[in-house]
Parts: sequence; structure tokens; C-alpha cells
Amino acid sequence: MNRFLVRCALIVAAFCQALPAFADKPGVVILATGGTIAGAGADVAKSATYQAAKVPVDKLIAGIPTLADVARVRGEQVFQIASESFTNEHLITLGKRVAALAKQADVDGIVVTHGTDTLEETAYFLNLVVHTDKPIVVVGSMRPGTAMSADGMLNLSNAVSVAASQDARGKGVLVTMNDELNSGRDVSKMINIKTEAFKSPWGALGMVVEGKNYWFRLPAKRHTVNSEFDIEKIDSLAPVEIAYGYGNVSDTAAKALADKGAKAIILAGTGNGSVAARVVPGLRDLRAKGVQIIRSSHVNAGGFVIRNAEQPDDQYDWVVAHDLNPQKARILAAVAMTKTSDSKELQRIFWEY
Ligand code: DGL
Repeated sequence: MNRFLVRCALIVAAFCQALPAFADKPGVVILATGGTIAGAGADVAKSATYQAAKVPVDKLIAGIPTLADVARVRGEQVFQIASESFTNEHLITLGKRVAALAKQADVDGIVVTHGTDTLEETAYFLNLVVHTDKPIVVVGSMRPGTAMSADGMLNLSNAVSVAASQDARGKGVLVTMNDELNSGRDVSKMINIKTEAFKSPWGALGMVVEGKNYWFRLPAKRHTVNSEFDIEKIDSLAPVEIAYGYGNVSDTAAKALADKGAKAIILAGTGNGSVAARVVPGLRDLRAKGVQIIRSSHVNAGGFVIRNAEQPDDQYDWVVAHDLNPQKARILAAVAMTKTSDSKELQRIFWEY
């Protein structure tokens, strides 16, 4: 009996000895939504042929034992989908979960694993509506974990170390891909076949190397705790759609989207957010019927649209999306229209966020 009691005492002592280190570590929750980072393929030599959204979050965590050196990590499987299938409802559900966890004292940072196709939209949405200065880090991968030189393991490890770090607080939603620290507002997927896929037109905020963050710049636009939008007061998003601009374009798409209920049309314009002359009358008719017209640009490395440059926005009562690409402009317009349908208020919001 004595040997048993001694053994129990030794186990308890060992646990108590380890407890402070474990308890001292930051608490990080990984919210998994699917994508390639949870993808699986049949052939180790194939990094582009696989199925997204297959591997559960607990298996992702188990695959990186060193996470426990950095934080007390636990996972929740919020969705298991390819991110091209995200809807406004997915954004609302995810945003509310992130906000609820951010309020918990035992949560110091949150990681969202996500498909890369719409990762930039979700990261911007969370940047706009979650009121916390705790790090929120959105992460994906360009190759499935079953492929040679898969990037997901290091991307996720970096995301957890950033989410656990003090110096990432108050910098808005971050995206850690390919060792870079990018702002969730600025970053966009620029190519679909390289691990260096994500770029911010105005540059990354920094790098994360061997678990340490190196910062070179800070976000300039309003975000998180400094945002006037709060996910706790948002239960749905306005239908906002995108009409692509190109040579020979007509107003058919914009009119059809408005007929289907769009409250705002984002014009993915050419160059400076330019609009073909033959399309303008149809767009002005839509504006007269109350549909907001918001000019963005689909140029690849990032547009820069200002008022009254190539279109008389004041005269037409249109809004410009400034440097937001069409898909991000859609997110901001949908969030902004939970509060206002006034075009001058919308323009203020596009300058500030
Ligand atoms: N189906 C794409 C997505 O879920 C895969 C791309 C990826 O996650 O890298 O976004």
C-alpha cells in the first residue's frame, strides 16, 4: 500500500511541477473552417490534386506537437468546407464565435484555419466587426498536408505563435502565410499555384521567423476595437454583388444583379475603376432606383480609385472603393449597409476602413 501511495505522490508532484509552465502559457483556440490546410490528396508528388476540407482540426493540432511549447491549444471545427463555398451566413457565424471566444479570460489569441480562395474576405470581415485587441490570425495553405513541401504545418505553427504573442495585440486581424505577417485588410491572393500566393499592395506588416515576430509597419485604417461595426449587433449582411468590367461589356450583369435584389453593385472596373460609356446610363438608372454603385478596380496588384478622376462620381452620386479590390469592397459595403444607405456616409466609411 505504501508503494502505491508513494507512486501517487510522485505523480502528483510531477504534475504540480509541470502545472505552472503549462498554466503560464497563453491560451490559443484554433477555429477550423476547412480549405487546403485541411486537404488530403492520394499522391505525395501531387500538390495541386487533392480534396480540400477533409482533415479535422484535432488531427491538424496533433500533427504539430511543438504547438504545446508555445501555447495551451485547443480546436473547434466550426465548418469543414472549401472556402469558395463561404456565404454571408458563414461569415456571421464565424464572427460571432470569434467575438465570444475573445471575451473569455482563458483565451489570449484565436487562429482561424481557412481555404485560401476567400481567406482575404473573411480576414477583412473579422477586422471590421470583432471588438478585441487580442490577436486574431487567419491562416491557410497552398498545398495539402499529404504533398511534399506542404506549407500548412509551418503556416499553422506560425499562426499559433503569433496568436500567442503579446506584440501582435492591437494590430488588427493578421494573416500568416509564407512566413509573412500581413494585415487582413490589405492582403490578397495574387496567384493560385505558388506558396508565395498572398501579397499586400502596400507591403507586409512584418515577418514571423522561428516563432518570433519582426514588425516593420502598422495598419493605418480603422479596425477591431476602433471599428464602428460590431458583430454582436449584426445578424445579417446586405446583398452586395460584383459586376466585372472588360472590353465590350454591357449593363446586363449589373441590371440582372439588381433585379435579384442587390442593394449595391461593386464595379470591378478596368484600370482606374473605369466604366464603359455605354454602361453608364444603365448604372445611373439603377442609382436612381436606390442601388448603390461602388467603383473598384480589378487590376491585379491592387487598384487605387479616387473620386471624380475618370468618372463624375459627385454628379452620378457614386462611391469609390479607394484601394480595396472588388471582393473586399463587397465585404465593406455589406457591413457598412447594416448601418447606412447614405452614399456620402458610405464614402466616408470607404475612406476610413
Ligand atoms: N478550394 C480552395 C479553398 O478552400 C482550396 C484552396 C486553398 O485552400 O488553398 O479555398
